[in-house]
Amino acid sequence: MAELVRLTRQDDIAVITIDNPPVNALGPGVPEGIQALLHEAVQDGGVRAIVLIGAGQTFIAGADIREFAKIVSGERPRLSLYPFLLAIEDCSKPVIMAIHGAAFGGGLETAMAGHYRVIAPGAQVGQPEVKLGLIPGAAGTQRLPRLAGVAKAVEMCAGGQSIPAREAVEVGIADSLIEGGLLEGAIAFAREVAPKPAPKTRERNEKLRDVHPALFTMAREKARKLGRGMTAPLAAIDAVEAATRLTFDEGCRREAELFDECLYSSQSRALIHAFFGERTVAKIPGLPKDVKPAEISRAAVIGAGTMGGGIAMTFANAGIPVIVKETAADALERGMDIIRGNYAKSAAKGRLSQADAEQRLAHITPQLTYEGFDQADIIVEAVFENTAVKKQVFAEIGKIVKPGCVLASNTSSLDIDEIASAAAHPDMVIGTHFFSPAHVMRLLEVVRGRETAPGVIATAMALGKKLGKVAVLAGNCPGFIGNRMVAPYLREAQFLVEEGASVEQVNQALYNFGMAMGPLAVDDLAGLDIGWAIRKEFARFEKPGVRQPRLPDLLCELRRFGQKAGRGWSLYDADRKPSADPELAALAEKTAREAGIPRRTILDEEIVDRCIYALINEGARILEDGIAAARCFMPIPLDFPTS
Ligand code: 3HC
Ligand code: NAI
Repeated sequence: MAELVRLTRQDDIAVITIDNPPVNALGPGVPEGIQALLHEAVQDGGVRAIVLIGAGQTFIAGADIREFAKIVSGERPRLSLYPFLLAIEDCSKPVIMAIHGAAFGGGLETAMAGHYRVIAPGAQVGQPEVKLGLIPGAAGTQRLPRLAGVAKAVEMCAGGQSIPAREAVEVGIADSLIEGGLLEGAIAFAREVAPKPAPKTRERNEKLRDVHPALFTMAREKARKLGRGMTAPLAAIDAVEAATRLTFDEGCRREAELFDECLYSSQSRALIHAFFGERTVAKIPGLPKDVKPAEISRAAVIGAGTMGGGIAMTFANAGIPVIVKETAADALERGMDIIRGNYAKSAAKGRLSQADAEQRLAHITPQLTYEGFDQADIIVEAVFENTAVKKQVFAEIGKIVKPGCVLASNTSSLDIDEIASAAAHPDMVIGTHFFSPAHVMRLLEVVRGRETAPGVIATAMALGKKLGKVAVLAGNCPGFIGNRMVAPYLREAQFLVEEGASVEQVNQALYNFGMAMGPLAVDDLAGLDIGWAIRKEFARFEKPGVRQPRLPDLLCELRRFGQKAGRGWSLYDADRKPSADPELAALAEKTAREAGIPRRTILDEEIVDRCIYALINEGARILEDGIAAARCFMPIPLDFPTS
């Protein structure tokens, strides 16, 4: 096995390189290895200072996240990184941390234990532990406020967002930005500081003074709002607050207690599962190793409606020039107005500079013809959800595209194989199902048709990553994965209203459980007519004798299409604020009476159980059917059920 850590000498400077691919995590052997090499460098009379650097793409991305499950299950003892970091800080020769890529979690904590930090311009530093349901567990909450100040430390530890290199220098986390070669710059820096007394972060208390208690109150309010129900952000704030009240050692003990509480929580278990889940979906079992994704450097989108506009922005945001085609000038102008408005809003809110917004907009070329489509590496169709319309579009573009161009459909429910049958090259056809709003939502379902070529799958998956999405491969079936799972969840919510729960109770119970919105509120937002159309389209797949809710069709017959109609499951005022509708309650009662459905008092617990179990069960069926690749084998069964 290759060495995890190695020591070299550049005249009077020792260089310790961590080489633990892929991200130099502090897995077993790494801290011990660094500590042993530090000792060796100290013993070497010719060494005046020590540089610690990461091999490959990054400095240290944190503790090895895989270890946490082993600790919780008792398979491995919980090893503390505190003594290791104290050994760095107490080293008798200056230790300079050279940061590129990411210094995250335990990586930043290691960097902060060094006497100095130099950083490459593209690097990021952060304490993202809260995203895993944890808090920094190696004195991050104690050293960060000492370097960056309490407000910045609270923001970084409770929010989990990283900051770029320049900001790291501005706030005091890093001492110098190295524009050229990082190692050479770090060595030069080391020679400069070698004669000076090395500062210990844990003794730098000046930024801990005069902190207004309101800072913590406001941070807790914000954390409760942004991470409803999440415990780790609040624990992170407690730990940083401890730094302002306790000595460094006492603060570290408090941090360790809070870390352990988080580590053994179900929230942390779930978020760590999600972390690896999001990475596992990128691996396609059975995809031959020699299949390489094609480079996507030009794109085209057909349709500038709700989805087409968002998809065009997604390409532009990733620096990929994109043509947007419409059938009529007014539709094109409407779509472009929305795109321009979105960029203007982002610039006004400071999320983008004016120059960036303009540059992104300049990547989008609106037009009414297929001009330039023969240059595109991918074409995404986002026209009306109608098989005949989509087939006509695929037949048309088949005649003009260059060989190797990926032909993608954004259909949310239609049969990809049926659409592909109209294309000259069905093997180039794939589903890329973006979610609304497409430039914001992270999920991208990549839907594999019966004839989709492996290279096209690889290209669509790689494109997803390039666009900043989590791409998930799905087989071809009604609703694919996401919408197929939502259908029984929503149906259960609708049954509950027929059985006696109020719309407000159903929405509130699931909101309290942790959903961003209740299911019937989502239904009203999406438009009940969408579900109506889909039910008609897929009526042929329904198994006889299986219960279906009656209310959704009745609401649609009354034109109660949800928010846009001012009424659906709830009533909506001009600002789209919902209120309970007595007419709906009466309709639910009447419907139940006529159908012989007994009405009763329903507890919130039953609402949550029935809706969430419906989601889980459908998820299991999706796995069983091989529609999700998670535990799968190629080829995925691709049959679109037919009656
Ligand atoms: N531990 C173990 N494996 C890790 C890891 C970590 N900290 N960080 C990333 N990996 C693995 C991923 O699982 C993936 O493995 P795979 O190839 O087998 O799927 C591989 O490294 C590459 O990761 P990405 O696909 O995410 O690569 P990117 O280049 O897109 O991103 C990154 C790199 C920005 C470093 C990103 O991986 C990341 O944000 N990692 C998590 C960082 C983190 O949360 N650190 C805190 C850990 S907890 C901690 O340190 C506690 C401490 O306070 C004691
Ligand atoms: P939309 O109605 O807002 O936009 C469709 C656009 O396509 C219209 O502007 C129309 O003029 C244009 N169009 C129709 N035929 C065309 C052609 N031959 N050439 C060029 N443009 C043409 O529809 P929306 O909501 O954007 O949906 C598009 C696709 O995305 C559908 O397949 C839909 O199911 C899917 N989808 C929709 C989601 C949503 O929330 N709206 C979410 C995910 C997928």
